[in-house]
Amino acid sequence: MTRRTTRTTRNACFTRTTRTTALVAALTLSAGLALTGCSTGDSASAGGSAGTDGKPALKVSGAFMPQPVMDMAGGFLTITNESATADKLTSVTSPLSDDVQIHETKNQKMRQVTSFDIPANGELNLERGGSHIMFMGIKEKPKKGDKVSIELHFEKADPIKVDLPVEAATHNPQQH
Ligand code: CU
Repeated sequence: MTRRTTRTTRNACFTRTTRTTALVAALTLSAGLALTGCSTGDSASAGGSAGTDGKPALKVSGAFMPQPVMDMAGGFLTITNESATADKLTSVTSPLSDDVQIHETKNQKMRQVTSFDIPANGELNLERGGSHIMFMGIKEKPKKGDKVSIELHFEKADPIKVDLPVEAATHNPQQH
């Protein structure tokens, strides 16, 4: 706590984004100082929606899992990076499977990768026919209307928990 407080006051202009604890500390200790110290105006995340220490601000949207027909399942979602710091999706964990992989699709063949880039001020799209999350050897077959919880792990950002709503096996939001 002491270290973070020190960093917050000294590096207020470099962190750009503020975790809740740091924000509270800044407000308690030196709201005025933080404001005047950041006159460069580089504060796009003033709402405190992001991590501290320059961690990327990631948001997940459009998540779903098509109802699996075999003992494996796919997961799809979009990760939006609203910060100037690039990150990587490095792994996914879930109670549904002890072996959750991330796959890319090249020439209609999928293969496992170790990470996906999440560009600064950009997004990572995991979509049908492309890159996706792959649950191997699932322990049960969730049905449409169920939710499957997963946790996304990143190189820099803190892990994010997401509930994937299970949709029809053919569900594809891009085909509207
Ligand atoms: Cu796959």
